Amino acid sequence: MRKAAFRRSILSAAFLGAACVPPASQPPAAVSLAPLPRDSHSFARPAEARVSHVALDLAPDFASRRLQGTARLTIQRAPSADSIVLDVRDLTIRRITDGAGNALGYNVGAAQQFLGSPLAIALPARGDVIVIEYQTSPEAAAVQWLSPEQTAGKRLPFMFTQGQAILTRTWVPTQDSPGIRQTYEAVVRVPAGMRAVMSAKQAGAENESDAEGRRVYRYRMENAIPPYLIALAVGDIAFRPIGTRTGVYGEPSVVDRAASEFVEVDQMIAAAEKLYGPYRWGRYDILVLPPSFPFGGMENPTLTFATPTILAGDRSLVSLVAHELAHSWSGNLVTNATWDDFWLNEGFTTYLESRIMEELRGRPYADMLRALGRQDMLKAVADAGGEAGADTRLRLDLRGRDPDDGLTDIAYEKGASFLQTVESVVGRTRLDGFLREYFDRFAFQPISSEGMIAYMRQRLLRGDESERIGIEQWVFQPGIPANIPAANSAAFAAVEQQIGAWRNGGPTSALQTSAWSTHEWLRFLRGLPDTISARRLAELDGAFRLTARGNSEILEEWLQIAIRNRYEPAFPALDRFLTTQGRRKFLTPLYTGLSKTDWGRAMAIDIYRRARPTYHSVAVNTIDQVLKWSEVK
Ligand code: BES
Ligand code: ZN
Repeated sequence: MRKAAFRRSILSAAFLGAACVPPASQPPAAVSLAPLPRDSHSFARPAEARVSHVALDLAPDFASRRLQGTARLTIQRAPSADSIVLDVRDLTIRRITDGAGNALGYNVGAAQQFLGSPLAIALPARGDVIVIEYQTSPEAAAVQWLSPEQTAGKRLPFMFTQGQAILTRTWVPTQDSPGIRQTYEAVVRVPAGMRAVMSAKQAGAENESDAEGRRVYRYRMENAIPPYLIALAVGDIAFRPIGTRTGVYGEPSVVDRAASEFVEVDQMIAAAEKLYGPYRWGRYDILVLPPSFPFGGMENPTLTFATPTILAGDRSLVSLVAHELAHSWSGNLVTNATWDDFWLNEGFTTYLESRIMEELRGRPYADMLRALGRQDMLKAVADAGGEAGADTRLRLDLRGRDPDDGLTDIAYEKGASFLQTVESVVGRTRLDGFLREYFDRFAFQPISSEGMIAYMRQRLLRGDESERIGIEQWVFQPGIPANIPAANSAAFAAVEQQIGAWRNGGPTSALQTSAWSTHEWLRFLRGLPDTISARRLAELDGAFRLTARGNSEILEEWLQIAIRNRYEPAFPALDRFLTTQGRRKFLTPLYTGLSKTDWGRAMAIDIYRRARPTYHSVAVNTIDQVLKWSEVK
């Protein structure tokens, strides 16, 4: 019976090395598997069999740019199941066995764009363990291998992974769906002089070595997490403690700066715990990566990955840490069931981020963050084709698309605005109580948009509140509902007055900027007219040294202005910025701006030709599209 079903589900002729396993005297325990919403970005069939634990034993080989080793999966199966389907992309499978070393039949299906392949494995007759011997490709999309020259220390190479959204399958053979939670453990064998860090608790001794003289690091994640949160970095990595449960990792030349930039992290955790309940992950450390890290931050549990471009020296960009920390509740504890529900991760997190920053820095500061967020939202709506654009919906339909292309600021800023709207109707006290209860009720579980709404109706909303909010419209319809609360900032109102005077021809010397924070500078630069004369730009640059700014956010806004107006004195700085960091949020508008002009496209291509080999694959993917790179060469 089971055999027949297996034949039907997979072309058995394609199975390699299928072993003749004698009938098991004791069939493995079958469990009932809780139903999950269908995830169009995974081949897994979790109703039949699912991975519950991943045990990795991996060694990075910096010469061949591969990870090599084994993944030992613990599985749960339904009574009728005879195979398990995993997600794999660009992996070389050497051998698959059961826990006792008996070969298991398997088949790697045809690869699909960005999804990779289904890996179907015949379930073992005995036991619930599958051992996969494999290695990754040098092109594995999650992994970036950096040469020593691409690091701050210039002495040793570096590697790191980025799993979200569907890249974990390029380095770990597992069911790569955010609804399929797994605990994990890992043994990582690295060259002497290097350290391995992971999104988990360090489990072994500090200085273990193996027979081949490699340093051995052991990690264990006891909370079941979605596989996009499995993360690894290896390099010349030092540590500086901040508090008793917090600290920073990074290259030796950045850790001290980072520890000082992030001193408020314990206050952030205290604020988040006060609002949303206990932090459930043990330690909270931050790894500062080399500058090619493609994101601002990534909420890998116990170990946020962060770009060095937030080390401004004045703690002005640390709301990013509040954001990644907030994911310890929204995202890592309660997780979007599929990428169509991405806003449940990012919109809730953006709302929490502003609440945490309000606790730390006060209302006027948080008001500035929210006002900038609104500007980002309006830009995202415009980029998505305006108010009617299908991708301006919170609940997305990403079937057939690379989730990485469909995830925009809509999820962040329209998502946060939805919660601000709920707050405006029910008040802060009730919303805070609800969120705390929500994180507790759905802790370590996936949640869909429908599930969140049902729970909100059940536990929060009374009378006509649901209609006053217009939940269905907010979540399922395109555009921005009219009941969105205003996001005003008194500090920005003052900046806007100055912008007005300057736009009307007021002298640059009349601008009163000495008390401006980074955010006021950002508001100012965003409020300048699209077209500005070379003389006026030179005045601004001369008075405020904008081209020489070290604050990455301010510099990036200024460089956009420089591109729009072909302000050539800023071009060497533009070239430097695009070739010395690879944060996609900074690259995209600058390359886009250049490619829109008749003179800039050649410059963009010249810069990109040099920079492309230094960027992570997710940035390369985006900028290839921006510049239509396949048509270049
Ligand atoms: N989880 C995201 C990063 C991400 C999103 C990676 C989608 C892959 C796919 C992270 O929490 C994030 O949102 N980072 C932002 C910073 C934040 C302060 C808005 C970023 O990297 O810019
Ligand atoms: Zn986020």
